[in-house]
Amino acid sequence: MEFNLNKVDSVIDKHPAKRDALISILQDIQSEYNWLPREAIIEVSKKLNIPLIDVYGVATFFSQFSLKPRGKHIITVCLGTACHVRGGPRILDEFSRRLNIKAGETTEDMQFTLETVNCLGCCAIGPVVVIDGEYYGGMTSRKIDSLLAKHTKVDSNQ
Ligand code: FES
Repeated sequence: MEFNLNKVDSVIDKHPAKRDALISILQDIQSEYNWLPREAIIEVSKKLNIPLIDVYGVATFFSQFSLKPRGKHIITVCLGTACHVRGGPRILDEFSRRLNIKAGETTEDMQFTLETVNCLGCCAIGPVVVIDGEYYGGMTSRKIDSLLAKHTKVDSNQ
């Protein structure tokens, strides 16, 4: 399948074509795709006139960037100490079972990626799960189905 560069070009065009804008451009591309496709990185390198190796250097230096395909919906389960003692691992297992993937993996249909984090800075409301940037505290296994439905429903309404 041919990669459509139009979306990437319009993201790049919103920024000054300067090296200083590189991180912001990569952040915007990642929020568009949830990861940094190779074709997008090549386009950034060409348009900003920055050697490809330097763009990759930045993309691999910052852990916020992913060079691996990620799903449309990102689920992050906190396994920091506070969330761990309040049942974080059980929540992770439940997501894992329902989606049939392990932490760090993406469902075959590219809908969901399951990730873990060590603390989100809101331990008091643990166990915490973040789905597509929305925080859910006091997480229980019972809430999982409705949250998955809620986030997939957003798609069908678009
Ligand atoms: S340990 Fe989960 S938010 Fe801090």
